[in-house]
Amino acid sequence: MSSEKVDQLMQAMTTAEKIGQLIQTTADVFPNGDAVVTGPMKSANMSAESVYTIGTVLGISGAKKVEQIQYDYLQHNRLKIPLIFMADVIHGYQTIFPIPLALGASFNPETMKIASQVAAQESAAGGIHVTFAPMVDLVRDPRWGRVMESTGEDPYLNSVMATASVQGFQGDSLDDHHVAACVKHFAAYGAAEAGREYNTVDVSEWRFKEQYLPAYQAAVDAQAALVMTSFNTLFGVPASANQHLMRDILRQEMAFNGVLISDWGAVAELINHGVAGDHQAAADLALKAGVDIDMMGYAYAKYLEKAADLDTTTAQLIDESARRVLELKDKLGLFTDPYRGLDDTREATEIKTTANLQAAQAAAEDSIVLLKNDRAVLPLVPETRAALIGPVTDSGDILGSWSWQGDPAATETIKTALSAAMPNLTFAAGSDYRTSSVRDLKEAVALARQQDVIIAALGLPADESGEATSLANIQLPAEQLVLLRELAKLNKPIISVIVAGRPLDLTEVADLSTAILFAWFPGSKGAAALSRILLGEVNPSGKLPMTFPRSVGQVPIYYNEYRTGRPSTNPFGRDDIKYQSKYMDEVNAPLYPFGFGLSYADISVKAIELAQTTVTPADTLAVTVHLENQSTISGKTVIECYTHQQVGETVRPVKSLVAFEKVEIAGESLADFTIEIPCEHLASVHQDLHQAVDSGEYQIMVGLDSDNLITVPFTIE
Ligand code: BGC
Repeated sequence: MSSEKVDQLMQAMTTAEKIGQLIQTTADVFPNGDAVVTGPMKSANMSAESVYTIGTVLGISGAKKVEQIQYDYLQHNRLKIPLIFMADVIHGYQTIFPIPLALGASFNPETMKIASQVAAQESAAGGIHVTFAPMVDLVRDPRWGRVMESTGEDPYLNSVMATASVQGFQGDSLDDHHVAACVKHFAAYGAAEAGREYNTVDVSEWRFKEQYLPAYQAAVDAQAALVMTSFNTLFGVPASANQHLMRDILRQEMAFNGVLISDWGAVAELINHGVAGDHQAAADLALKAGVDIDMMGYAYAKYLEKAADLDTTTAQLIDESARRVLELKDKLGLFTDPYRGLDDTREATEIKTTANLQAAQAAAEDSIVLLKNDRAVLPLVPETRAALIGPVTDSGDILGSWSWQGDPAATETIKTALSAAMPNLTFAAGSDYRTSSVRDLKEAVALARQQDVIIAALGLPADESGEATSLANIQLPAEQLVLLRELAKLNKPIISVIVAGRPLDLTEVADLSTAILFAWFPGSKGAAALSRILLGEVNPSGKLPMTFPRSVGQVPIYYNEYRTGRPSTNPFGRDDIKYQSKYMDEVNAPLYPFGFGLSYADISVKAIELAQTTVTPADTLAVTVHLENQSTISGKTVIECYTHQQVGETVRPVKSLVAFEKVEIAGESLADFTIEIPCEHLASVHQDLHQAVDSGEYQIMVGLDSDNLITVPFTIE
């Protein structure tokens, strides 16, 4: 529903002014009072006057700057239509939370919601109105650097997290302590072939709807105000020109009625994709597909040249899109107060507060995953004589990509956090991330020789995750493996702490280490969180949101694969049966499965019970899970519920996550948890591309990871 204000403006605006609303540029075109017509704008023949009709800007923040730009802009804009300020606030603004993949590992939607809430509150104080988040692309290929921005490989986990994130960013009312969410990248960007950035995506519409679409749908259902198109091609057409994807699926089937914005330059890139000959043709395709805002492509600027004599269809499409942008401005309250949320005190009092930093630490503690803990080497006692070694030892580079307002140099390092708590700790880098010297290596080994335990802080720098960081090799860099091998020769317990934004091939690391903590990029308070986990002040409870392969050749690898006609009978080993779905030189099973993560407590599922073993598609399945903690300490874990459908109209995954709950159980105790699973979560996409819950035989499988599950059959009538 459009407001009176929007109607009035639409009446009063010239076509050129409407076109302006559809152009997005960086805010540096408005430096100090006068618009600067920069390179791409010049070639699009934009005048200073037309720059003052641009509807939205991106990538700038800070209350003072935003206020000044808005003020100056409104002096020049004929109808006093304010700008929207958009930015990538992905996992925090100045208080940096763990990367989204880590938030996925928390398996705790409340943690995701709080992270988004804090990011919203801080960035709103910095003048931001819209964040380009959440990124909900399903990811299964750790070669692709952007897996760090997603919550992982599972449609259900991603959907739950997408909902939590949109709710956290937008709140109930999109007031001036919240920001509008832009779900991205529509669609299936995560399926780039060979994990190579910006590469072609080709998944069938059936598979798209089964696995990729649910998380976008969840974000749309949670009222995300915007959607961003993806860079990639899908069903043979680049997303930003894809009428079927944007009009039939997004607008009609998914009922999205907010603003559709292109990704950076994606409209102009239709020329590179080879579906448009020039900027004008690219603009026509995108507009027809329903892209409302052209981010940094200046293809829509081509309409300015002929604003006076546009054909009726184009004029109507421009009207539709301009109206949507104005509606967003209205929704944000910008017509009432173009300076919403901007006052001198908020930035000083609401950013990087103690409470926000505590929330970031709690999120890191909730998301770090314990992958191995032989002989219960962890937790350590503070007096342990430990050597902390590795390139991450004294590095503040633990914030991760998309933390442009964060400051690695001012971020507490593992060395600082840990040495405050461990009086007998010594340290040496031993190697840099990808370079090393014999001297450093020798020094580190000599130092480690003097100590009882080695903590190896290894991993990748932040600029090896995020956009445009595809890797063909997903092992730790060779220099770090050399260091680890040398340390292993000392025959002391090695605790490897890995900082990275993607699953790695940890096969050798696992062989050489007694324990492994996978920290992701844990954010502003990540070092403190790690220190508390190493010392047992916090019991780890993160679970893998992506499968960890044994080697890059298994990629893409994910737990919810479809059944094949010739399944392997020995996924953990090799045998002589030839004609099966398997490798000759590698087992099928991953190194660590989806949903895996240990605790210092000894928690296990003893049994499960279904309230009813025959249900209808409209029912809710109630499964009672009997959990036991045999150790003396309490711990958190995630109860994971999967289902398997015996016979489907289309092929069914070997298992699918349908519910999960993070729970806490006291030491030496038994506890029962009842988890409700609406049977609608069991829907599958049929050959006609519509969803339905099939009747027939199913199994419910419950456990603490996707591999070790207790199974009980049930029937849907
Ligand atoms: C990225 C988007 C991001 C946009 C704006 C693009 O390169 O793909 O995820 O939101 O830039 O910064």
